[in-house]
Amino acid sequence: MTGAGNMMDAVEARDMGGPDMEAFKAAMSDMPAAVTVVTCLDLGEQPIGTTLSAVSSLSLAPPMMLACFDVGSNTLKALLPGVDFLIHVLAEGQEQIAYRMAGKGAQKFDALDWALGPRDLPQIAGCAAVIHCSVGQRVPGGDHVIVTGNVRRVTRSDAVPLVYHRRALFPIPMQSQEAAP
Ligand SMILES: Cc1cc2nc3c(=O)[nH]c(=O)nc-3n(C[C@H](O)[C@H](O)[C@H](O)COP(=O)(O)O)c2cc1C
Repeated sequence: MTGAGNMMDAVEARDMGGPDMEAFKAAMSDMPAAVTVVTCLDLGEQPIGTTLSAVSSLSLAPPMMLACFDVGSNTLKALLPGVDFLIHVLAEGQEQIAYRMAGKGAQKFDALDWALGPRDLPQIAGCAAVIHCSVGQRVPGGDHVIVTGNVRRVTRSDAVPLVYHRRALFPIPMQSQEAAP
């Protein structure tokens, strides 16, 4: 079979049924991502939050972030335009926090080391970075909603960040300044 024939097969396969979903999911798991926990207050002013890896910087001027939420997320319900929220970049040793906050229900905050942060937002201790944002837009994207965040304040520590890669959590292998090109 020629190269053109192969390409035609791929086009026809896509037109008939879309991409191979297992291959798509595996390719997405190949992409390392920071592990974050987004927190805010729900409509009753109670702490709410979830683990997210689909979080990214969006703009420098003005400073903006984006976060992608499944439409079924309870945290998403509270993130209406103008609402303040925190993006916590989790650090080495916070793997259990990532799994706990990926559950459902208010008990997620039990046994979690958190305190009231800016605007009385629930802030988790010991993270690599905490980015305080307020919701800009909510943009539909398939079965997810992209929430943009206008960055208000950033705090950082020297803690080693966690990454999510191939469905497992790892501390980022750190390079010394001297080893960097
Ligand atoms: C490492 C990790 C990364 C995750 N990333 C996302 C994500 O980017 N977007 C999302 O909607 N859910 C993500 N989840 C799943 C949510 O944490 C999970 O659906 C959670 O129960 C939602 O909670 P909520 O309904 O209280 O908001 C992730 C889970 C884990 C463990």
